[in-house]
Amino acid sequence: MTNIQNDRLLKVLKGETVDRAPVWLMRQAGRYLPEYLATREKAGSFMGLCQTPELACEVTLQPIERFGFDAAILFSDILTIPDAMGLGLYFTEGEGPQFQRPIRTLDAIQQLPIPDPEQDLRYVMDAVRLIKKSLGNKIPLIGFAGSPWTLASYMIEGKSSRDFINSKALLYAQPEAVQLLLDKLSEAVSLYLRAQITAGADVVMIFDSWGGVLPEDAFLRFGLPSIQKVVDDVKKHAPHIPIISFTKGGGLWLNKIKELAIDGIGIDWTISLAQAREAVGNTKCLQGNLDPTILFTNPRVVQEEVKKILQQNTLQTSHIFNLGHGILPRTPIENVEALVAAIRGE
Ligand code: CP3
Repeated sequence: MTNIQNDRLLKVLKGETVDRAPVWLMRQAGRYLPEYLATREKAGSFMGLCQTPELACEVTLQPIERFGFDAAILFSDILTIPDAMGLGLYFTEGEGPQFQRPIRTLDAIQQLPIPDPEQDLRYVMDAVRLIKKSLGNKIPLIGFAGSPWTLASYMIEGKSSRDFINSKALLYAQPEAVQLLLDKLSEAVSLYLRAQITAGADVVMIFDSWGGVLPEDAFLRFGLPSIQKVVDDVKKHAPHIPIISFTKGGGLWLNKIKELAIDGIGIDWTISLAQAREAVGNTKCLQGNLDPTILFTNPRVVQEEVKKILQQNTLQTSHIFNLGHGILPRTPIENVEALVAAIRGE
């Protein structure tokens, strides 16, 4: 039962019919919005923004007010968990996220604590509570976390990586060490998502941004089972809350991903929505999958490309319109407006 006024997102995740596809964009609150940049300035830094619930709430609502999206997503980051495990997260301009103390050994992995979300990540839970209250039941709130493998790869590399040499070499050479890390992260992620649900999240999403860098056997042996642990535990405690899982680069493995007890599957732009539907069958909602660089063209091209995706949704339901990955900085706002108008049939 839900008392949310705009319940398109919740309905499609349950397989119910809606008038049109719900739409929201990954990273919808971000640097392409001048009002976001102004609030970040006020906060002093990206982490300052995440750690001040009033400001995190403010930026969460900005894209809703501007574009009227059908869902809000908590403003935070996936790397809050490793930070709470003691790795020392910091951001430098242009470099992306980095850790002061990356994890490289079995001994270091054994020492890692599992964060208590209400203690160690209280700023995130406070943000969820405040956003939920501010939304006033107008649209659903999506909570999120990184997948265990995606978090592990950042923790081992210590920063963003092109080739994942440290994390993949550790996985191949010392699989038991990486398995222990993944087990700890499955537990931490699951506790974190459950706490977000208790604090008010209506849907939760798992960002497996780097699942697709693994060979198939490693994805099936390490990546996917660690997601499955999270999903099963969250479902056990909150069976009514829909879960979306997004493995970037996971198109070839949809026939395995669909076996998870999730409600929605995120897809990137490398597979067509029609192909993904064929691989998944009719049981799950699909989310995606416009290439974010299409938003660097013009309103006419954007509208055509949006329609191409909408036309592939032959079921007339079970589709959440989104990008195939996060919206990029410097995306022209008029093209986001064109995207939303095309979905609304304007
Ligand atoms: O979607 C939303 O609007 C919610 C907020 C959100 C952020 N990060 C805000 C953010 C979400 C859901 C994330 C998830 C996240 N964070 C992922 C998974 C999704 C993906 O993109 O694959 C990953 C891998 C991260 C780690 C991370 N955080 C990176 C790689 C970066 C740097 C990106 C860059 O281009 O510099 C961040 C920082 C970050 N997280 C920003 C935002 C808006 C930009 C920070 C800034 O304002 O300078």
